[in-house]
Amino acid sequence: MNAGIIGLGRYVPEKVVTNFDLEKIMDTSDEWIRTRTGIEERHFAADNQETSDLAVAAAKDAIAKAGITPEEIGLILVATVTQDQTFPSVACMVQEQIGAVNAAAMDQAAACAGFIYSLVTAKQFVESNAYKYVLVVGVEKLSKVINWEDRNTAVLFGDGASAAIVGPVSEGRGILSFELGADGTGGKHLYLTQQDTIAMNGREVFKFAVRQMGESAVNVLDKAGLTKEEVDFLIPHQANIRIMESARERLALPAEKMSKTIHKYGNTSAASIGISLVEELEAGKIKDDDLLVLVGFGGGLTWGAVALRWGK
Ligand SMILES: CC(C)(COP(=O)(O)OP(=O)(O)OC[C@H]1O[C@@H](n2cnc3c(N)ncnc32)[C@H](O)[C@@H]1OP(=O)(O)O)[C@@H](O)C(=O)NCCC(=O)NCCS
Repeated sequence: MNAGIIGLGRYVPEKVVTNFDLEKIMDTSDEWIRTRTGIEERHFAADNQETSDLAVAAAKDAIAKAGITPEEIGLILVATVTQDQTFPSVACMVQEQIGAVNAAAMDQAAACAGFIYSLVTAKQFVESNAYKYVLVVGVEKLSKVINWEDRNTAVLFGDGASAAIVGPVSEGRGILSFELGADGTGGKHLYLTQQDTIAMNGREVFKFAVRQMGESAVNVLDKAGLTKEEVDFLIPHQANIRIMESARERLALPAEKMSKTIHKYGNTSAASIGISLVEELEAGKIKDDDLLVLVGFGGGLTWGAVALRWGK
């Protein structure tokens, strides 16, 4: 049996903060941010909106799209590094608020690679017949950990949530192969400080990401016995347009075959791949039986990719 995505949802908070808004509060410019990162604006949660609120909204959307009931969900995995509080987990908060009374629940912390890590975890539980449906949520409220004194990082991040129902799909469809990886020696390049703010060595992370995104994308194709020419769409983690372009070039794909939502949302960490996937589906760019490559990297350092044949 193959596990795949049978429903997808997303939630992005209303408040939009443009590069021009940031120009007013720090020494930066729209031109610098756009040309170095591809970001034009990002969304920030309201003060009274917590990570779990974003997660619940995306989860409800995914459940409705999948056409299942919350009671049918056996496990909830929430990929996040910006929990409301250390415990209870965001996953337990989601479980309560959507009424998934039969579900086990836990958070998973793999930073921006979190959505891929949780998708792959979900696949194991579905394919081993332990649970029929697993709810995966990638969610961050990064606005609460931004260091506003540090222009190197403050301009990069946004808030948002995406969710997927992972369940059984027909033969030949679903998650065909995956790669997960970690390199703890690079943890010092991207982390949360004792003051709960983001610290990053941008150049080191950039070098790592350019190398790893392309490599992981190629590896999952090899593992599935597929070639670059067969790829219909690349959904990369939306951290920096130059990093995304390097992965696209590695797969020799034309620009229109790569998802780009970074200009609207910035880097939403664990939420970004799912948000992009929803947007491409809604735009009608992904059809049944299309071959997708989802690939991400993040703090840890972590990385992950899946080759996914779309459709139920
Ligand atoms: C952060 C990043 C955009 C910086 O781009 P870069 O081309 O490497 O820029 P540099 O670090 O070389 O900085 C160039 C200059 O811009 C300045 N600068 C940094 N942030 C700035 C900002 N927001 N506005 C204006 N200038 C800025 C720097 O101070 C530096 O000035 P200097 O040369 O006078 O010291 C890039 O390194 C990056 O994207 N790294 C990966 C980050 C990432 O993906 N993180 C998330 C992982 S999930």
